[in-house]
Amino acid sequence: MNQLIESIGSKEMLNKETSETMYKQIIEYSVETIIIHLDHEILYINQAGADFLKGLKEEIIGGDILSVFHEDEKDLILERIMQGMNGKTATQSLEQTITRFDGSHVNVELYCHPVQFGNKKAIQTVLRDITIRKETEKMLQDRQKLASIGQIAAGIAHEVKNPLTSVKGFLQLLKETNAHPYLFTMESELEKAIDTLQNLLQVSKPNLHDEPIIEIDVCKELNSLMLLFQDKLYNIKIIMDIRDCDKHIFGKKNLYLKAFFNLMKNAIEAMPSQGILRIEHYFQDEYVHVKISDTGVGIPKEKMNLLGTPFFSSKTDGTGLGLTQVFTTINDHNGQISVHSVVNQGTTFHLKLPQLPSRCKATSRCVD
Ligand SMILES: Nc1ncnc2c1ncn2[C@@H]1O[C@H](COP(=O)(O)OP(=O)(O)OP(=O)(O)O)[C@@H](O)[C@H]1O
Ligand SMILES: [Mg+2]
Repeated sequence: MNQLIESIGSKEMLNKETSETMYKQIIEYSVETIIIHLDHEILYINQAGADFLKGLKEEIIGGDILSVFHEDEKDLILERIMQGMNGKTATQSLEQTITRFDGSHVNVELYCHPVQFGNKKAIQTVLRDITIRKETEKMLQDRQKLASIGQIAAGIAHEVKNPLTSVKGFLQLLKETNAHPYLFTMESELEKAIDTLQNLLQVSKPNLHDEPIIEIDVCKELNSLMLLFQDKLYNIKIIMDIRDCDKHIFGKKNLYLKAFFNLMKNAIEAMPSQGILRIEHYFQDEYVHVKISDTGVGIPKEKMNLLGTPFFSSKTDGTGLGLTQVFTTINDHNGQISVHSVVNQGTTFHLKLPQLPSRCKATSRCVD
């Protein structure tokens, strides 16, 4: 009998040990960051977690879990930890920006739940990297913003352009009977207004562009476009860092060319006295990357959100439609665009261009 009890006991022990080992392995090999902590002290972190936090396991264990969170958020995190400790299930997830051990910041989603760690009740916090989700959300928001601004702008442009065109017709008739010099000035001013509206219609109604989708050698096009600016480049040094030219993209060539042109023009205009214009082309992670950087005036932080909005311009003679065209074109080709700028140091526009727009991928043919 005693033997039987002993053997049942050891079986239970064995089962417990096996399930503990399994549990440990599941956590250790999980791709998500899993931290077990008690009274803020980190008792355990899995390898994926140490890699994600850019630290060594030995350094992280024993540290304070709160140290990765922003000072202002610590109370909220403490509250979540308490909820986790007192509850039986996982807390609601919470989005936070944390600072990793190498100083970099990253957006995470986290939730806590209670666990038994040895003979203590501790908290298990799971961190999930949501950088890509955040970027996608922002891209979608930007697209929606652009699309609705574009629709309103296109509607207004269309309504205003028609009467202006008929005024222009009557002016031409008037000129035939009365060649007053004011009529010529009126006509040229009117033409400028009609041109602006035409440009606006073009950039805000991309479905009006019935250009075919063709193969584009971006390296070749960037080199040719630079030639167009020769007369503006006395005091500007050009660095062409062009690599991976065998990687071509498919898209609407004229729209792309106009977008590159607009970015180069802005970069040059940002350096009125002197500076360096750097054009980069390379292939990485299935995208063709084009970076256009200048060492010019830069863009103040509070203006960054306005980039791409029709008519936003800081220039006396700017129409503020250049970047609208750039953003619309890149979005329409399922590309991505990011801007980095420091006032008085310079600006970089980074374009990530898919080799094929997604509609080509889906159908393996490029039709609109
Ligand atoms: N590389 C850059 N450096 C500094 N500011 C920039 C840069 N690119 C764009 N900007 C800012 O963004 C604004 C909008 O640019 P956008 O190209 O849309 O219009 P614009 O250059 O003013 O006029 P245009 O319609 O003639 O291009 C600019 O007026 C400028 O303030
Ligand atoms: Mg411009």
